[in-house]
Amino acid sequence: MTALNIGIIGVGNIGSLHASYLTAGEIPHAKLVAIADIDPARLTAATARFGALTCYDSAAALIADPAIDAVIIATPHYFHPLIAAEALAAGKHVLSEKPAGVYTQAVQRTLDVAAQHPELTYALMYNQRMNPAYQKARALVQDGTLGELRRTNWIITDWYRSQSYYNSGGWRATWAGEGGGVLLNQDPHQLDLWQWICGMPSRVMGFTYNGKRRDVEVETEATAYVEYENGATGVFVTTTTETPGTNRFEIVGSRGKLVIEDQRLRLWLNAQDEADFNRTYQGGFGQPDCREVPVDTVFDGDSGHQKIVKNFVSHILDGAPLMSPAAEGLRGLSISNAIYLSSWEHRWVDLPIDGAAFLTALNQRRATSKYDAAAGFSGQVLDTKGSY
Ligand SMILES: NC(=O)c1ccc[n+]([C@@H]2O[C@H](COP(=O)([O-])OP(=O)(O)OC[C@H]3O[C@@H](n4cnc5c(N)ncnc54)[C@H](O)[C@@H]3O)[C@@H](O)[C@H]2O)c1
Repeated sequence: MTALNIGIIGVGNIGSLHASYLTAGEIPHAKLVAIADIDPARLTAATARFGALTCYDSAAALIADPAIDAVIIATPHYFHPLIAAEALAAGKHVLSEKPAGVYTQAVQRTLDVAAQHPELTYALMYNQRMNPAYQKARALVQDGTLGELRRTNWIITDWYRSQSYYNSGGWRATWAGEGGGVLLNQDPHQLDLWQWICGMPSRVMGFTYNGKRRDVEVETEATAYVEYENGATGVFVTTTTETPGTNRFEIVGSRGKLVIEDQRLRLWLNAQDEADFNRTYQGGFGQPDCREVPVDTVFDGDSGHQKIVKNFVSHILDGAPLMSPAAEGLRGLSISNAIYLSSWEHRWVDLPIDGAAFLTALNQRRATSKYDAAAGFSGQVLDTKGSY
């Protein structure tokens, strides 16, 4: 195979963005040939904008098209693992939007299907993994530059969302239609990067605030405190209702500290590992010498979406290493599920998460959700250009 025929399932906000660069020919060796959406108006709008494409009124109909080699899934989250499993079983490669799913059991079932098809690729749109600052941070943690991990802190409050955003789609911000709020919609990127760079915590204490400052049933604000196996600790702070917001990621190790803020990575290194200094120093108030070290990482403002699609295509066609395998989506989702469960049950939640316990608690919330499936998924298509 020398080129991929791609179908997009769900042509709302982000599905339209993916369609725009694919139809503009910006992804080598990939061609958008079909789209599917359960809302006929979305199909009409997409063909008016992107030209003649084969249209299907369901994911299943597009998946049954033998001309399609790979699908991009851009529907609301609950459908991601369900449609992915169907596509994989039909022999299609899958690139799914984040999150991998709403709860881990559904994602695990799809990973089991994927395991039966090792010839197929199942990847996620973790576009922020393509940001050089996060890639550099990961390298600095993994190659030991920072020493032993001591503390991680991420304040991510610059995902501002007004009430009009929440009103733009019937499924949004409901337990039954979406399955969560800021932790599940906006934060999957940071929760993935947090574990990708620092590793998985071993237990989580979470605090979530439903409908705070917005008329929605899910959380608009959350704070989590985590512990790692080696004794390190971490704090994750998030909300959609703060402006001006902050995006500051700080990682402290025994040999230094790095901070990513304003798309810039800064690194400070100690002359001596803190543990060694502490063992030998006799002077009382002193501390290790420390200097800021220049880091040659420049963020080019690229959202990374196209880079993920290019990587997905070249992995399938040429065997390039895959940047965001779907199996890794289980990790960030586990942290997210654990924050909810901890908050709902006012207790520590150990990782790996008890997927059945989380699903039981989620289902209680879905049962009383105001989401009206009959009202459908439609609403406004918002411009996601420049969203990151
Ligand atoms: N990676 C990113 O930067 C990024 C940005 C925005 C959204 N997303 C993700 O993309 C997904 C979609 O978000 P959105 O803002 O585009 O939503 P949206 O509501 O604008 O679009 C979803 C589309 O899917 C269609 N749809 C719903 N159920 C379907 C089904 N079963 N089969 C086929 N079509 C179906 C709807 O009719 C709608 O057109 C979400 O999971 C979101 O988390 C990712």
